[in-house]
Amino acid sequence: MRTEPEPLRRLLRALCCYGVFSETEDGTFAHTEMSRLLREDDPNSLRYISLWCTEPWTWEVWPRLDDAVRSGSSVFPEAFGKGFFDYLHQDAGESAQVFNRAMTTSSVQSARDVAELLDLTGVSSVADIGGGQGHVLASLLEKHSSARGILLDLPGVVARADGRLREGGALADRVRIVPGDCREGVPFEVDLYIIKNILEWDDESTRRTLRNVMAAARPGSRVVVIENLVDDTPSMRFTTAMDLLLLLNVGGAKHTRESLETRIADAGLKIAEVRPVNPYLHAFECVVPG
Ligand SMILES: C[S@@+](CC[C@H](N)C(=O)[O-])C[C@H]1O[C@@H](n2cnc3c(N)ncnc32)[C@H](O)[C@@H]1O
Repeated sequence: MRTEPEPLRRLLRALCCYGVFSETEDGTFAHTEMSRLLREDDPNSLRYISLWCTEPWTWEVWPRLDDAVRSGSSVFPEAFGKGFFDYLHQDAGESAQVFNRAMTTSSVQSARDVAELLDLTGVSSVADIGGGQGHVLASLLEKHSSARGILLDLPGVVARADGRLREGGALADRVRIVPGDCREGVPFEVDLYIIKNILEWDDESTRRTLRNVMAAARPGSRVVVIENLVDDTPSMRFTTAMDLLLLLNVGGAKHTRESLETRIADAGLKIAEVRPVNPYLHAFECVVPG
């Protein structure tokens, strides 16, 4: 892409001050560990998450941070006239694609860890609520050949589900794809419900989602909630920034261990165990009481 060399040099020099790129003695610029994370082909790539955090709508909401801090709620409806996910899917197709790619990258990166952690002994059916394009579900079904799975997410998201889950895919005959809104209902009973990285929105949505899972599940069903905790992570800079972005766009928050435990307990679930999935995620293993 064409750029003016001098302003580009100034931009790169500024980025060097933050560890993104380094300047060599001959005046050229080189990759650093951090700048490599912006590449798509890095196994820990943060390229799409970085793009996501700088999408055009973010520049409209950050100036309203003071309002959000005063009111404790999202500033999105006031800035765009509708809720965040409605805006994303109805008016901001390109941004929705960046979101999907960001979610895909982080799901793919964590799906193996989740599949590694979860013991599916005795589980014949598993559902991923707000499961995105189904990478976690696909990893679980690949590992457990007798389990069946359900993927629930918004229609625009499941329409682009992982090829393994869609018609003709290797796992398709063991999968049901359910387009829907988990705040409106969870229309199936399974042995294990996974709720990963979705209880970060407003509290009412969290309450409704957990209530719907409780209404669908039978006593003894397992519910595993997986989240990044803001008080137990080596990546505080990233998590606290995402925490504020969640406040701005959906009136949400990254949870502390205690805030998540409280919401899970309020829903009537019994927490059996809390375990780290990897350095960034914790799994709250819960049971629907009898
Ligand atoms: C942060 S992503 C997490 C995706 C996936 N669980 C994972 O961990 O990779 C949040 C997901 O919630 C979905 N979502 C948002 N609102 C929803 C709703 N009302 N009902 C179902 N899914 C929803 C989004 O489409 C998105 O896939």
